[in-house]
Amino acid sequence: TKMSRIFSGVQPTGNLHLGNYLGAIRNWVKLQEDFECLFCIVDMHAITVWQEPAALRAHTREVAAAFLAAGIDPRRHIVFNQSQNPAHAELAWIFNCVARLGWLNRMTQFKEKAGKDRENASVGLYAYPNLMAADILVYKATHVPVGEDQKQHLELARDIAQKFNNDFGVDLFPLPEPQIFGAATRVMSLRDGSKKMSKSDPSDYSRINMTDDADAVALKIRKARTDPEPLPGPSVLRPGGGVDPAAEAARPEAFNLLGIYAALADKTLAEVLTAFEGREFS
Ligand code: TYM
Repeated sequence: TKMSRIFSGVQPTGNLHLGNYLGAIRNWVKLQEDFECLFCIVDMHAITVWQEPAALRAHTREVAAAFLAAGIDPRRHIVFNQSQNPAHAELAWIFNCVARLGWLNRMTQFKEKAGKDRENASVGLYAYPNLMAADILVYKATHVPVGEDQKQHLELARDIAQKFNNDFGVDLFPLPEPQIFGAATRVMSLRDGSKKMSKSDPSDYSRINMTDDADAVALKIRKARTDPEPLPGPSVLRPGGGVDPAAEAARPEAFNLLGIYAALADKTLAEVLTAFEGREFS
C-alpha cells in the first residue's frame, strides 16, 4: 500500500488556544495512530512579522511542550522546529519560481495580516504560502490536518505541486489532502462570533488558552457573549449535515459555543442540538 504521511505545523507566536487545539492538535493526536507524522513548530513562518528573538525561542519551546501535553508521541513521530532543516527554505525558493503572482494575490490571509499598510509588509509575509507548500512537499506528505482557515493555503500547495509536476514532466510531488474535521474546525472569539479566535486578539477573554486553569476557563465561558434566544434545535441542519448558513450568520455566538461543546464532549453537532433544543445558555 502507498505510504500515507502527515505534515502539519503551528507558529510559535504566542500561547496556543482552543482554536489551535480543536482545529488541529487534537486531530493530530487521533491521526498519529494511522499515519507517519511530522509535527513542526514553524519558526520561519513566525518571522514574517516581527518577533522578539528571546520570545521566539521561549514560544518555540512552549509550543513543543503543548504538543507533548496534548498527547503527541515524540518517540513514534517527528517533532521539530522548521529552521533546523534548511531544505524548507531551499524548496521554498524553487516554489517562488513556480507559483504565480496572481495565485498569491488571492490569498485572504495576506490581505488580513498586511492590513491597510501593504507596502510596509515583509516580502516573507507575501511569499509565506510558498514556504508552507515547501514544508509539506519537501517530505512528500500526503495529508495535512489543519483548521478551516488554512484551507486556501492547502489549495495553493496542491496547485504548486501540480504545476511543478506538469512543468517538469514528472510525478514527483503528491497532491496533499487537507484533513479538516470535527465539530469545531473554525473556533470563533468568545467576545465576537464574527471574528476567529486568535493569539493576537487584545482581549484575553476572547480566547481560552491551553495554559488557562479550570477556573479561568469556567469564567471565560460564563462571560462569553451570547444572545437572548433559547438554544436552536436540529431543524437548523441542512440535509448534508452542516448548519444552514443564514441560521448560523444570525446567531454566530450560539453556534460557536455549541460547536465547542460538541467537540469537547465528543458528540456531533446534531446530537448536541437535539439534547439542548430550547434550553438556556447557562
Ligand atoms: P497557525 O499557527 O495560525 O495555527 C495552527 C493550527 O491551528 C489552526 N487554527 C484554528 N483552527 C480552528 N479555529 C481557530 N480559531 C484556529 N486558529 C488556528 C490552524 O488552522 C492551524 O492548523 N500557516 C499555518 C502553519 C503552517 C502549516 C504548514 C500548517 C506552516 N506550514 C504546513 C500545515 C502544513 C499557520 O499559520 O497556523
